[in-house]
Amino acid sequence: MPKRTNWQIGREMEYPYEAPPPRRQVAYVFDTNKCIECQTCTVACKTCWTSGKGQEITFWNNVETKPYGGYPIGWDARLLEQTDRARWENGRLASRTIFEMAEKPNRPPLGHRPTVEDYSAPNLGEDDITGLVEKGEHFAGVHPMWMFYLARICNHCSNPACLAACPRKAIYKRDEDGIVLVDQERCRGYQECIRACPYKKVFYNMVSRISEKCIGCFPRVEKGQVALCVESCIGKIRLHGFLTTQGEPRADNPLDYIVKIRRLALPLYPQHGTGPNVYYIPPVHVPSGFLEQLFGPGVDRSKEMYRALRDDRQLMGALLLFGATNRIITRYEVQGEEAVGWADGGEEIARVPFTEPVHIREHYDRKHDVYRHNTT
Ligand code: SF4
Ligand code: F3S
Repeated sequence: MPKRTNWQIGREMEYPYEAPPPRRQVAYVFDTNKCIECQTCTVACKTCWTSGKGQEITFWNNVETKPYGGYPIGWDARLLEQTDRARWENGRLASRTIFEMAEKPNRPPLGHRPTVEDYSAPNLGEDDITGLVEKGEHFAGVHPMWMFYLARICNHCSNPACLAACPRKAIYKRDEDGIVLVDQERCRGYQECIRACPYKKVFYNMVSRISEKCIGCFPRVEKGQVALCVESCIGKIRLHGFLTTQGEPRADNPLDYIVKIRRLALPLYPQHGTGPNVYYIPPVHVPSGFLEQLFGPGVDRSKEMYRALRDDRQLMGALLLFGATNRIITRYEVQGEEAVGWADGGEEIARVPFTEPVHIREHYDRKHDVYRHNTT
């Protein structure tokens, strides 16, 4: 089986498909500390891309509650039950990836296929109380529980399991941006891609009888715009851009800087080996034992870095650009008290102050001849 280097697991690994890396790789950073699970991203994606027949329970973007939620149900836990427990030695994965756990060499990676019922009730039971609350009852004491929200889209993986598993070679990765697409003409609905994707981000359309997946909003990306889920995010938890794949990571590329140089944001389940390109800033209030299973061994370091952001101006500058524009920032700089972002071609598209200016409105508005009561 061909080998390729996977920087996320710190070693070479087997991958049953040979292809050079794309010229640049689309990537996203999601800050889990800021997500409120409002599902605006989910609805923006759904109404734009998957509102047709056979797509009733398809969500290319979903947001679920961790540790108990998941769409489709148990998408991650069921695979973890089948695989080796992830073991890391000094940042190097000592256990096997899903490709290395395939039944035989050059066979599809280890996986499982959810049932229709598993997709049928996203967010069912999440954030619900478990019983009736009587009038006057209240919680007393220290709450021992924790939870957080995990927003998920296709990871446009560097080593896509979906692509490697398709017997029709109907899935491909674009050279210009690394976006992974299902060729709707070639697909015959074998669903090996669904079994193989550890994130369960390929969906079978029961009306057309072929598979569909997140298209990375490629018509927008081709115009230099961020994906719809990124633009619509009211919590401004998302940054969309490109990772450098040819040559060294650039300190003035916010994605390279956050993901590769500082390693503040971490891949989801890197132990599976697909090289996912959605990177998460872990929630600082959640125990590291749980988070290390999700994001690998860099969790404590990342939490420390996040807590010290106030004094880390270069990193803070990159984080200020989240949600600052609907265009893709490919270069940034901290200039005095502002973070500035530029698009391909050098046009300035974002300028964000480190400290929000405070404007106090006059109590009396002369222009409209009204009193504003919210200023006192
Ligand atoms: Fe394929 Fe799944 Fe990776 Fe998306 S997340 S590229 S569907 S393996
Ligand atoms: Fe291939 Fe998946 Fe279609 S395995 S044939 S892309 S359903």
